[in-house]
Amino acid sequence: MPLLPGLDILAAARAGGYGVGAFNTNDMEITQAILQAAEAKRSPVLIALSEGALKYGGDILPKLVVEMARDASVPVALHLDHGSSFASCLRAIRLGFTSVMIDMSHEEEAVNVRETARVVEAAHAVGVTVEAEIGRLGGVEEHVVVAEEDAILTKPEEAERFMEQSGADYLAVAIGTSHGANKGKGRPYIDHERIVEIARRIPNPLVMHGASGVPADVVARLNAAGGELADASGIHEDDVRKAVTEGIAKINTDTDLRLAFTTRVREVLRDDPKQFDPRKILGPAREEMQRIVEERMDVFGSSGRA
Ligand code: G3H
Ligand code: 13P
Ligand code: ZN
Repeated sequence: MPLLPGLDILAAARAGGYGVGAFNTNDMEITQAILQAAEAKRSPVLIALSEGALKYGGDILPKLVVEMARDASVPVALHLDHGSSFASCLRAIRLGFTSVMIDMSHEEEAVNVRETARVVEAAHAVGVTVEAEIGRLGGVEEHVVVAEEDAILTKPEEAERFMEQSGADYLAVAIGTSHGANKGKGRPYIDHERIVEIARRIPNPLVMHGASGVPADVVARLNAAGGELADASGIHEDDVRKAVTEGIAKINTDTDLRLAFTTRVREVLRDDPKQFDPRKILGPAREEMQRIVEERMDVFGSSGRA
């Protein structure tokens, strides 16, 4: 099946009241884990590559991912995560991406609108759809920032104005989540009222970044196998389920895959110190990542939608 524009997958998700995962990849094994999970669950999926992933893998990585995704029997989009410039988005489009994020959320609104609109014009001309962001991600407790100092939650009226002026197709919102494995103390606070108000004003699919669940059992296994991850916390799956009913359609997950990968590699090396065949180390890590992706697809409600 050819790769689809991101909006084709996400508009169906928002209309159908389910969420679709955008899972970050950096190599062949992660990509296989994502695609095999999507096939097993009959789920649409977005495969995301960051600029860091492109730097790590070079141009050959997206070529590999495009080839692998083309063989999928479920809808797949290839997405640039956190594109930092017009040039970066154009490069991704040339490499075969069908969805790009232009992240100017750290800039003033006028600059964010202007740069997003430039990317939208170029991307739409070749059938690629665009994610933008307004607000700054960070963990909050009620309205007090606890995970990232410069967090600014997305203001609904600003988001509405931004979407009208920029022409973006889907919007990343800051509603209490943050990137990484430490999202704040206890159960991070998610501002559901804010999601509802933004969704009331904006018909487009909304995007939740920093959505990893950071499963406590995986973190415990990681630490038992020699890892040292303290103060780990993620987004409760009930908050993700609720957010999907409120208008979140794209749910970004990277950290959970990193944790699954590293946990399994550590366990294999701990339990089998004589092992040195990379396939015997990376194979189990790939299975663990697939398990995590499948669990996430069930939580998002995308299982059985393809
Ligand atoms: O939001 C960021 C993603 O987790 C990608 O991270 O830039 O280290 O590849 P990265
Ligand atoms: P996590 O760090 O919670 O996995 O978020 C990933 C993300 O938002 C990628 O854009
Ligand atoms: Zn992100």
